[in-house]
Formats: sequence, C-alpha cells, structure tokens
Amino acid sequence: MTKVTREFIDGLPKAELHLHIEGTLEPELKLKLAKRNHVDIGQTTIEEVRKTYQYDDLASFLAVYYPAMDVLQHEQDFYDLAFDYLRRAAANNIRHVEIFFDPQAHTSRGIPFATVINGLHRAIVDARAMNVDADLVMCFLRDFSKESARKTLLEAMPFKDWILGVGLDSDEHNNPPLKFARQYEDAAAAGLHLTAHCDIDQVGSIDHIRQALEIMGVERIDHGTNIVEDPDLVAFVANHGIGMTTCPLSNSFVSPEMKGDEIKELLGKGVKVCVNSDDPAYFGGYVNDNYAALADQFSLTRDQVIQIARNSFDVSWISDEKKALYQAQIDDYIANN
Ligand code: HPA
Ligand code: ZN
Repeated sequence: MTKVTREFIDGLPKAELHLHIEGTLEPELKLKLAKRNHVDIGQTTIEEVRKTYQYDDLASFLAVYYPAMDVLQHEQDFYDLAFDYLRRAAANNIRHVEIFFDPQAHTSRGIPFATVINGLHRAIVDARAMNVDADLVMCFLRDFSKESARKTLLEAMPFKDWILGVGLDSDEHNNPPLKFARQYEDAAAAGLHLTAHCDIDQVGSIDHIRQALEIMGVERIDHGTNIVEDPDLVAFVANHGIGMTTCPLSNSFVSPEMKGDEIKELLGKGVKVCVNSDDPAYFGGYVNDNYAALADQFSLTRDQVIQIARNSFDVSWISDEKKALYQAQIDDYIANN
C-alpha cells in the first residue's frame, strides 16, 4: 500500500469544523498582545510561555487556556487573532471553516460581546480575499449557568446573521448537554444550527452523547469517539448522517492516545467523521498536521484520507451548491495528484 504523502494532504481541499479561535493564540501573538495591552502574563519569552503548556486532561488544559485570554482586550485583538488563523487556514488549503468562539470567556471579564464579534467578523470578511470562507459558531461554556447561556443567546441576537450555529464546550464534568436543553431549543427556534462537545473519556460520555443526539437534536458531535462503546448509537449517527468532528492531536494531549482506532472504526462504519485541529496553538499542530499524524500512525489509505476531506464538507453547514462546488474541487485535485 502506498503511503499518503504530506504533500498530498497539504494540497487536498478541506473544511475545518472544530476550531476554537481562542485556541489559535500562538505564544508570539500572546506576547505581542500582552505588551500592547499592558497585561502581565507572568512570562516574557516564547520558551517561557511554551513551558506553561502542560496538561494531561481536559481540566488541566482549560486551566492554562482560559487565563491566556486576558491579553484579548480590544476589537483589534480579536481581529488579529482571527486573521492570523485564517492565513494559516488558507495555507492548509482549508476552503471553509466554522469557527467556535466563547463569548462568555470574554464578557465575564468585562469585554462587550460586540467587541468580540466585530473583530472576528471583520477578519472573516477580509479573509475572503485569500479564498477562505468562514463562519462563526457560538459556544456556551457548560460550566457556567444556564442563565448565563440564556443571556449570551440574547446578546447574540443582534448579530444573528453572522452566527451559523451554537455549540457547547469547556468542562464537561457534571455538566451534561441536557443542562442546556432549553437554550438549544431557543437557538434552534432562532434558526441556528446545533452541535455539542462530548469530550474524550468523560464520566458519562455515552449518556452525554445520547442526550445530545436524541433529546437535543444536534447535527454534529464534537469529539465523541467514545460512541464506539455503543453500537446502537454508532448505527444512529451513521444512518442520520451526523458529523463527528474528531481532533487526533488534541486527543493525544488530554488522553493517552489519538483515538486513531476509534476514528478508523467509525469511518469504516460509514459515520461522517472529519479531522480537525481543536486548539492548534496548544495541541501541536494545525489541520494538516492532524491529517498527517493520523495517516502516518494509523496507516490511512489515500481513499480514507479523501473520504475524511469529503465528509468535512458534507457535514458542514454550507448550502448544497457550495458543497457540490467543494466536492468538485476534491474531484479535480485527486484526478491530478
Ligand atoms: N473541549 C472542551 N472545551 C474546549 C475544548 C475542547 O476540546 N477546546 C477549547 N475549549
Ligand atoms: Zn473543542
């Protein structure tokens, strides 16, 4: 079997559907913004910042992740963060990206919702010149109250045209999807798409996946590879074309491994699995690094890699016309490479 080359992966058109914009804060930009905004982050060199990146599960990761956001203060900071990421997305041949953002991580620090979304949206508009088509997906912090989520949804309403859907992230322990059932109902009624994190190896993973799918009607699950423990749920997601946005490098930081066997099993069962970078500045790589690590370490075939890229467009929330356009771009690429 011929090995899938990095060059093939790099050139393959793809969508990214599990990317936290706050997780793209590279040490260089963090230091630059800390200086610009006079925020003391406790480190002054890139090496010192990187040394703080030590985590072995979701909670220890989040304990590093949220305090770093203090450097994000002004609309221009959010613009710079998003534009830097979108430049890298273009270089990774990402044609479409659905970007998570965590408004409560900022509003809880006194930064207005409008400051956050105006900066992100302006970067998205400017990135169109690089051939990257991007949208925003607003996440509720699941370790905050449902009242806070309700308030956040209300704050988002004036900007509804810039938001494609809602998601659920942060610390899953004792924070099941069902806690936000009402906010998901309200979001759906407002015409927003629905997804939710069901993180790796959580207490109650299977229950959480079931709640998200059967009660809250999500169209995608973010992570969710524990689903392999329940064949009925696997059959459900396969039959309903539910997307599963896996993140191999991220998995290897918060659990002992990339969950490559689970990803391959799901792919083999016809589940619409795609590969994403989650928080690339923290988990050692962008989307092509994730494809390459998975392909190398789990011997993916060329057809499997292509299927993953096709799935990424299939389970995105773009129009059928755009989906057909991107699938045709994949057809062209594989005919010539
Ligand atoms: N899980 C939960 N919360 C997060 C994640 C994640 O993968 N990334 C950023 N916040
Ligand atoms: Zn995530």
